[in-house]
Amino acid sequence: MQRTLVIIKPDGVQKNLIGEVIGRLEKRGLRIAALKKIKISKEQAKGFYIVHKDKPFYDSLTDFMSEGPIVVMVVEGKDAILEVRDIMGATNPAEAKEGTIRRDFAENIERNIVHGSDKPESAGFEISYFFSQIEIL
Ligand code: CDP
Ligand code: MG
Repeated sequence: MQRTLVIIKPDGVQKNLIGEVIGRLEKRGLRIAALKKIKISKEQAKGFYIVHKDKPFYDSLTDFMSEGPIVVMVVEGKDAILEVRDIMGATNPAEAKEGTIRRDFAENIERNIVHGSDKPESAGFEISYFFSQIEIL
């Protein structure tokens, strides 16, 4: 079993896609181990995306991530990290495969509906950024 952090980003919540995203994860056999709807500040978004601090898109990305409510969840299952990345599709929706969340719903490379951890070390950091152990069931 592996755990990963998934976020339904402000555009996904705004487009009423919470159920759609969770449904796609559950249909693939993944389990929701923790879940909450929150709104993060610009500073909290900067901390979450600290690995991207030197990228040209960091300022705009962290504005976007703090513009409205998000849903954060811990998703569990066999190869959960890769499974979620596969369900999400490529970062740029124009390059995402058919049937992926980003291909079906994302507006552009920034406003791309969902986040999923990219490797076990990131998942550990990202899960603990939003959840304490007693919230993960
Ligand atoms: O989310 P993912 O792991 O697929 O991509 P990333 O390279 O870790 O980038 C994090 C997020 O930054 C993306 O999901 C986009 O929202 C945003 N981004 C952007 O606005 N412009 C880029 N050229 C690359 C990423
Ligand atoms: Mg990433």
